[in-house]
Amino acid sequence: MPASIKWLVKHLKESYWKLFDKLQPLPWNDTFFLKLSDVYTKLEVAEVGNRGEKVKRQGFSKQSEHRTVSEREIFGSSESAPTPKRIIIEGAPAVGKSTFCRKLAYDWADGNFGRYKLAFFLEVRHVQNKSIVETIFDQLLPDDSKISKEKLEEFLSANEDSILLIFDGLDEIDNTLKEDAKSVPNRIIQKKLLSNCTVVITSRPHEVDGQLIYCDSHFKINGFTAEDREKYILKYFNDNVESVEKLTKCLNDCYIFLDDDEEIILSNPLNVLYVCVFWEDHQNDECFPTKMTDLYEKILEFILTRYCTINKIDIDPENGIDLAKGKVPGEIKTAVDTLAEIAYNTMKEEL
Ligand SMILES: Nc1ncnc2c1ncn2[C@@H]1O[C@H](COP(=O)(O)OP(=O)(O)OP(=O)(O)O)[C@@H](O)[C@H]1O
Ligand SMILES: [Mg+2]
Repeated sequence: MPASIKWLVKHLKESYWKLFDKLQPLPWNDTFFLKLSDVYTKLEVAEVGNRGEKVKRQGFSKQSEHRTVSEREIFGSSESAPTPKRIIIEGAPAVGKSTFCRKLAYDWADGNFGRYKLAFFLEVRHVQNKSIVETIFDQLLPDDSKISKEKLEEFLSANEDSILLIFDGLDEIDNTLKEDAKSVPNRIIQKKLLSNCTVVITSRPHEVDGQLIYCDSHFKINGFTAEDREKYILKYFNDNVESVEKLTKCLNDCYIFLDDDEEIILSNPLNVLYVCVFWEDHQNDECFPTKMTDLYEKILEFILTRYCTINKIDIDPENGIDLAKGKVPGEIKTAVDTLAEIAYNTMKEEL
């Protein structure tokens, strides 16, 4: 392997270890981090179908209808079997698609997926209409990179079979690129570029249908099973069994809320995280929320309180912020009202 490629492998591995072992789970809190290697919990990934198979969208969410697979199996059942070249993984908002991609990159850095000499984690929203090499330089390499664009280009085309591209967030692509069949992301998905590289593409469900024709395999991330949810909670509370047992009992008693598609809301890792964060501060409250709406309301109050504290905005000392009663400091009222209006209008549109 040329020295410049050896440098690239080392650089990518070190970047993935450093960048991806850190989760900032609450975007508004830039002092709260979790270590991916401490809290990562298996996500249920189900195989939906192969190319050519008619994918039935109705009843799609019933988890038992699809065979669940391990992370390894998405690349084919064995190391020697031919790898699917375009693998699409869909999932609802915050179900863990980006975390899954980060974990793939992290695992590659750790020496798993040895069949790939290079793995590139790329956020699709930053893949403009530049070549993939330009994008790799923009997203992953330093200004004083020890490899030239020409060398990388040359290595990629000579080694397509052993290159893994992780394309996270197809749904976040710019609208003009999405509609342009000749855009770089579309040409990659359609195998007009880098046809022999393995490309893992993640997306929220609404962007997936049009791409299925080009994909060799199709998976869906379902989030946590009840058992994995408990494992996550245990990790979050550093194995504090007493706290976990209390919370698990509370969840089992209160949170068996099913949405219209009969998906359990608490299979969503972000919701589970919200529950843990809230529980940390309020486990002795008599009014621990028993509905998802109440929980979201409490979380929003928690975010607003933190914002006001940081920005030295006075909060009613007795009642704090109470959204249901309209008790919000004047300085943030317009922002809260605008948020409420957006939420209301979006909900109306979706009905
Ligand atoms: N496997 C996991 N183990 C532990 N925590 C997870 C896992 N997956 C997701 N999370 C938590 O859920 C949060 C949301 O996950 P993530 O950002 O990966 O969702 P997403 O599906 O990419 O969402 P979006 O559709 O908005 O892009 C993460 O910040 C992390 O805290
Ligand atoms: Mg994401």
